[in-house]
Amino acid sequence: MKVRAIIGALCAAGMVYGTAQAAEQVEVLHWWTSGGEAKAVGVLKDDLDKQGYQWKDYAVAGGGGAAAMTALKTQVISGNPPSAAQIKGPLIQEWAQQDVLVPIDAAATDWDKNLPPAIDKIIKYQGKTVGAPFSVHRVNWLWINKAALDKAGAQPPKTWPEFFALADKFKAAGLIPVAAGGQPWQDLTLWEDVVLSQGNDFYKKAIVDLDQKTLTSEQMVQVFDTVRKITTYFDKGHAGRDWNLATSMVIQGKAGMQFMGDWAKGEFANASKVPGKDYVCSPAPGSEKGYTFNVDSFVFFKEKGQSAATPGQLALAKTIMTPDFQEQFSLYKGSIPVRLGVNMDKFDDCAKASYADEQSAIKGGGYVPSLAHGMAQGDAVAGAITDVVTKFMNSDEDSKTAVAELAKAAKTK
Ligand code: GAL
Repeated sequence: MKVRAIIGALCAAGMVYGTAQAAEQVEVLHWWTSGGEAKAVGVLKDDLDKQGYQWKDYAVAGGGGAAAMTALKTQVISGNPPSAAQIKGPLIQEWAQQDVLVPIDAAATDWDKNLPPAIDKIIKYQGKTVGAPFSVHRVNWLWINKAALDKAGAQPPKTWPEFFALADKFKAAGLIPVAAGGQPWQDLTLWEDVVLSQGNDFYKKAIVDLDQKTLTSEQMVQVFDTVRKITTYFDKGHAGRDWNLATSMVIQGKAGMQFMGDWAKGEFANASKVPGKDYVCSPAPGSEKGYTFNVDSFVFFKEKGQSAATPGQLALAKTIMTPDFQEQFSLYKGSIPVRLGVNMDKFDDCAKASYADEQSAIKGGGYVPSLAHGMAQGDAVAGAITDVVTKFMNSDEDSKTAVAELAKAAKTK
């Protein structure tokens, strides 16, 4: 009996007949397909390969991940989930409630000590760790072509009047003032920047608390007015344009600026561009005291007949949180490590600014979840608000009508 028990345990650990075992395949669903993104996720693939696992890439193109989420639902419903998928924010809880995820506590032994408490909470479900966090992206950035800025004799705009003055100068110089990609998540990214420019409390009341009084306020009408005015600086070709193509317009100096999270920095870096020399990163006007965070993570799905994480899933989770991976991933991705205490020496000035601003925003109450990137609300409310904003930005609807629709969308169950 005793021997049998030992053999059983060894078999379970893959130590008997183990030499004949094929490498475990780990299928990974994500939407990191732009130049910088692909480089960053490539670090994880290489790390896994080195550990003897076989990475099966399931990349679904489309910034913001809407297409990837649709693909994921189909896979799970058809009983064929990937080993891991890129999910974040309240959506982690929504998937965990469906009882389709496996906990990864065995890989997460010291994570709670090494993560900001707000993030540690997001990746846990009923006391168990179900998500592995990659990095922190700041969403409320404005990216500006440095040569164009210098030619205009201007400074990065700190207020909306300064922003519009600069946009006018870019226009007069024959540039597209604002490079935009007319996709719903990009519309929402810009809109939430303008909401944040009204103050951290306004943002929290409107977007986190969904406070009806704030959502229907005159100030919210002004938010839509400002967004409308910004859209007049887009070029005609913006509809449906991918975010990285818009970034590339700024890189090439065809456009003056872009509102985008700092994954855009991954594109600048991939094109060997240096902050302060070739481009400038500046908080979106009026939002310097705020920090809209967006933390990417992987969750791990129960594979057929399994209730615990496989060795490959645990290896994946463990690798994601190692200091070395955290550093290299963020260097390519444009983000900063989510793990506390990772050395920032190798990072550029924008990442260092992001890190410093993160610390002061946490202290000052301005560290707020991004709605456009799935950190603030669940699927239903976020989707309903996105529809309102995108409809407004792609029609000539007036701001008051949009505000009334916004208040209704916030009540979506
Ligand atoms: C965000 C994601 C980022 C970034 C971006 C564009 O939602 O969190 O990692 O890659 O989409 O694809």
